[in-house]
Amino acid sequence: MNKLLVSLLLTVGLTGLAHAAGDAKAGEAKVAICSACHNPDGNSALPTFPKLAGQGEQYLLKQMQDIQSGKRPVLEMTGMLDMVTAGSSTPEAKLQDLKDIAAYFASQKTSQGTADEALVERGEALFRGGKLTEGMPACIGCHAPDGTGLDLAKYPRLAGQHSTYIAKQLTDFREGDRTNDGDAMTMRAVAAKLSNKDIQALSSYIQGLKPVTKADLVK
Ligand code: HEC
Ligand code: HEC
Repeated sequence: MNKLLVSLLLTVGLTGLAHAAGDAKAGEAKVAICSACHNPDGNSALPTFPKLAGQGEQYLLKQMQDIQSGKRPVLEMTGMLDMVTAGSSTPEAKLQDLKDIAAYFASQKTSQGTADEALVERGEALFRGGKLTEGMPACIGCHAPDGTGLDLAKYPRLAGQHSTYIAKQLTDFREGDRTNDGDAMTMRAVAAKLSNKDIQALSSYIQGLKPVTKADLVK
């Protein structure tokens, strides 16, 4: 094993590698009830409903479990995940339903968005550089330079997400209204350093982020 892989394994912890083994095809048949808000392919039309298309599989599974258990309250989704799993009688089968749904949305292509040009400079500086003087790390350290995240560690993809949704999440983390970021309080600590203007700039920049492709690298 090479050094990079070894250190990655150590950082992420071996449990992070346990494979979800969701079945995207089976998942497609289970998301009808989600379509009204998240669209059939997971690219929601309304900016208050997050895009699920292309989001990391492990991250999606964790959020569904958090929403279902009430650890992350989402009023609009009350009871909905229980309905999806109602037909399955064992805990294993219920978990498999969620894994299949996660695999399905993860396999879809995220639609792209645009950034407000006037906000790009401030948004990019914060995203790439953080606020080192205040001890706030750069977003790229966890969410990757092109915003595609690191699903192995359950760091979500941000690139292309609706700015309205992103802004709400950052505000919720800052105000303590979203607390499912673990005992390390990673995102609450980051968001504590953000002003409303910072959040506005970051959210716009994130909406316009496009993942790096092979073609970009050889250009
Ligand atoms: C009535 C609208 C509605 C329906 C139907 C709905 N959701 Fe949601 N969902 C939301 C809203 C609103 C949020 C974000 C809440 C917030 O602002 O934190 C959300 C958030 C999520 C998230 C978290 C995304 C992220 O990036 O963290 C996941 C995963 C999710 N929904 C999955 C589902 C699945 C699976 C279904 C179908 C079983 C479903 N939703 C049905 C409205 C809906
Ligand atoms: C040390 C790692 C780390 C850093 C640095 C970090 N994040 Fe996160 N971020 C996370 C993790 C982990 C989550 C998922 C928390 C959970 O499980 O709900 C997350 C979640 C988010 C979400 C919610 C995504 C969604 O779909 O609901 C947003 C938005 C976000 N981060 C933005 C940022 C921004 C902007 C920065 C920089 C200012 C940043 N993050 C820096 C680790 C990090």
